[in-house]
Amino acid sequence: MKVVIAGGSGMLGRALGASLVADGVDVVRLSRRPAANVSVDATGTDRIVPWDGRTTDGAWTTELTDADAVIDLCGLSVGTWPWTSGTKARLRSSRLEPRTALVDAMRGLPADRRPRTFIAISGTDGYVGSDEVPADESTPLADTFLGRLCEDWEAAALPARDLGVRVVLPRTSVIVGRGAPVLARLTLPVRLFVGGRIGSGRQWFSWVHLDDWLAAIRLLLDRTDVEGVVNIASPGALQQAEVARALGRVLHRPSVVWTPGFVIRLALGGQSDLILGSRRVGPARLCDLGFDFTWTDFEAAAREALG
Ligand SMILES: NC(=O)c1ccc[n+]([C@@H]2O[C@H](COP(=O)([O-])OP(=O)(O)OC[C@H]3O[C@@H](n4cnc5c(N)ncnc54)[C@H](OP(=O)(O)O)[C@@H]3O)[C@@H](O)[C@H]2O)c1
Repeated sequence: MKVVIAGGSGMLGRALGASLVADGVDVVRLSRRPAANVSVDATGTDRIVPWDGRTTDGAWTTELTDADAVIDLCGLSVGTWPWTSGTKARLRSSRLEPRTALVDAMRGLPADRRPRTFIAISGTDGYVGSDEVPADESTPLADTFLGRLCEDWEAAALPARDLGVRVVLPRTSVIVGRGAPVLARLTLPVRLFVGGRIGSGRQWFSWVHLDDWLAAIRLLLDRTDVEGVVNIASPGALQQAEVARALGRVLHRPSVVWTPGFVIRLALGGQSDLILGSRRVGPARLCDLGFDFTWTDFEAAAREALG
């Protein structure tokens, strides 16, 4: 099996590359900074191939020939601060340009030599406002910057369908795992003894442990009958105040300092949506596929991830 990972130098790309290579898969990771990347060769092969992430220039396009799958994980972190108009433009271009280049490269190949599967990641941020029942894959996305970003990001992958490629869109919640940057941001206030409820504390927080994310992507690679949007979120979504309490217990710190919502809004502007927005996401399609989550309890998952 050969899998090409665009954005393979990032946190998820490195973890996915290592897990596929350990299973004997030939992995090619595309990066704009190949020299800065370390190969993770084990039983399979792992190569880093340069590209510019924008155009079909370069020899990288030949790597897509006869590939079993292309997985697109490119994108500047939505946690990049502050959200100036320039940052927002980069959040969009760092997602849309690489994805469009990947689809253009597929179009340039003979029809019978194109990749069989295109797994094009997105996030669950667009489900903001979902509270009463967990959002499933049919829940409409919100008309917010992140909702529109998610829609456009996914739309950029869809032309691959017309090329005869199976397209899967895994909407991924916040990753909890060793070295996950979001976990570092969540734990920082608790470590500094200023953790606790933010705003009402009732906003839902959806997450998934890295182990489960890797297993879910593996399932989506193997199940060639699955197409379209698939939520990758633990069934153990919880509210922010519970997250703060759980992290306090894991780190043996009090987590009782209340930060009013307006302080976060003043400091972060539109980006406060990431902290104050409520997202209760459920893995409906994964459950239908019989996927078994290892990690459903946030505190246990955070304890493992924080070592
Ligand atoms: N981590 C999470 O909690 C989470 C949750 C939901 C969704 N996601 C999404 O999953 C993807 C991977 O996440 P991650 O945590 O692994 O991110 P990461 O560590 O920040 O890695 C991002 C990757 O994107 C590539 N990239 C960035 N800007 C690019 C551009 N303009 N053109 C081409 N490539 C670009 C980088 O590749 P090079 O610099 O090597 O070219 C890097 O490999 C991202 O799209 C992220 O939004 C992540």
